[in-house]
Amino acid sequence: MAANRQGRHIETTLVHGVAAAGGYGGATLPPVTLSAAFEHASAEAMEAAFAGDEEAPVYSRLQNPTVEALERRISEACGAAGTVAVASGMTAISLGLLTVLQAGSEIVASPYLFGGTYTLLDRVLGELGITVRFADPREPAQAEALIGARTRAVFLEAIANPAMVVPDFRAWSRLCDAHGLPLLLDATLLTPYLYDREALRADVVFFSTSKFLAGPASTIGGLIVDTGRFPWHEREGFGLDDFRRAGQGAYLAKLRKRQMAAVGPCLSPMNAFLVLTGLETLPLRLERQCENARAAASVLREHPRVETVLFPGLPDHPAHALSQAQFKGRFGSVLSFTLADKGACFRFLNACRLIGRVTNLGDTRTLALHPASTIYATFWKHEQEQVGVTENMIRLSLGIEHPTDILDDLQRALDAA
Ligand SMILES: Cc1ncc(COP(=O)(O)O)c(C=O)c1O
Repeated sequence: MAANRQGRHIETTLVHGVAAAGGYGGATLPPVTLSAAFEHASAEAMEAAFAGDEEAPVYSRLQNPTVEALERRISEACGAAGTVAVASGMTAISLGLLTVLQAGSEIVASPYLFGGTYTLLDRVLGELGITVRFADPREPAQAEALIGARTRAVFLEAIANPAMVVPDFRAWSRLCDAHGLPLLLDATLLTPYLYDREALRADVVFFSTSKFLAGPASTIGGLIVDTGRFPWHEREGFGLDDFRRAGQGAYLAKLRKRQMAAVGPCLSPMNAFLVLTGLETLPLRLERQCENARAAASVLREHPRVETVLFPGLPDHPAHALSQAQFKGRFGSVLSFTLADKGACFRFLNACRLIGRVTNLGDTRTLALHPASTIYATFWKHEQEQVGVTENMIRLSLGIEHPTDILDDLQRALDAA
């Protein structure tokens, strides 16, 4: 893959960062700074730290050296202006949206969303007086009619979970640029490794670190990445007036110093350490997971019990070429497929021996679930339809096991479906 803006390949940046080593007394990994608070040399230094005039941590709800090491590594890997790490992927999206939306604001969003995000937009923000206008991500031209004077942002998933719908990001970013709106993107299924800054042209990117990054899914966490494209300090209407002196960094300054400070969902330093160490092997794992997904998709499409396979890596997926161009020639490691009905899905799941019945994705283990009876169980039928979930759908997330073992289990469970 191509070198990033620092002139290094992302595989190297994820291991070393861009700064020279030796900052931690020669240790190759940063220490885990398990301290809630930090002492200052004088009252003046304390005042300067609180004012942000001096770079010194004051309290771990706002800033912590280990969390900061993770934030810096992610910014370097993504070629981004800045990153804030928080307690979960949902925290990242919630704080990311609450930083630019107020009562009366509107947001244009794809309805093809992870269940938690749909509930956040439709219910939680709805109860705060914020309106979501759902637009088909495959039809950016139709979304233009939904943009009005109160619209503050556009929100999309890079590869929609679990519908596997892929937007054309060039078209969406043109639309956003034309209306002076930031494009907010949940790129969890891509991870920083498959995230391509130039192809996706997003202004804010969210990752759930609960998937992929730490490796064996040991922790929950989330990231908000400001890619540096959007001139926050030059724009009105986002509630950033108190943070303009941070320049382009006004968005993350408000997010950290107001939203995160007041709501409080910071990332634990221990979890930051686990994500930081996991990042070093992310490219190796993801390459294997993407290959395993391609192999699984081939088996699924040949099996007589399988009705449809939703995976952008299949040449007849409507967004195959688009995905190839946008995701560094890869297609991710998650796919969905449909069987005859719910009964067949349950027979499939109950016959799995290696594949885990687990509500997660991006683990080193291969995992499957029935979205309609789990993540989307509380959704009304029409809402399930809107997010692209059907009663006969299984979501499969491929791990790093040997492909033969995964495919054997898949074949056997399908035979039993
Ligand atoms: C696409 C996507 N975004 C966000 C999230 C939320 O992340 P977390 O579980 O870390 O809150 C998930 C969780 O499954 C997800 O699949």
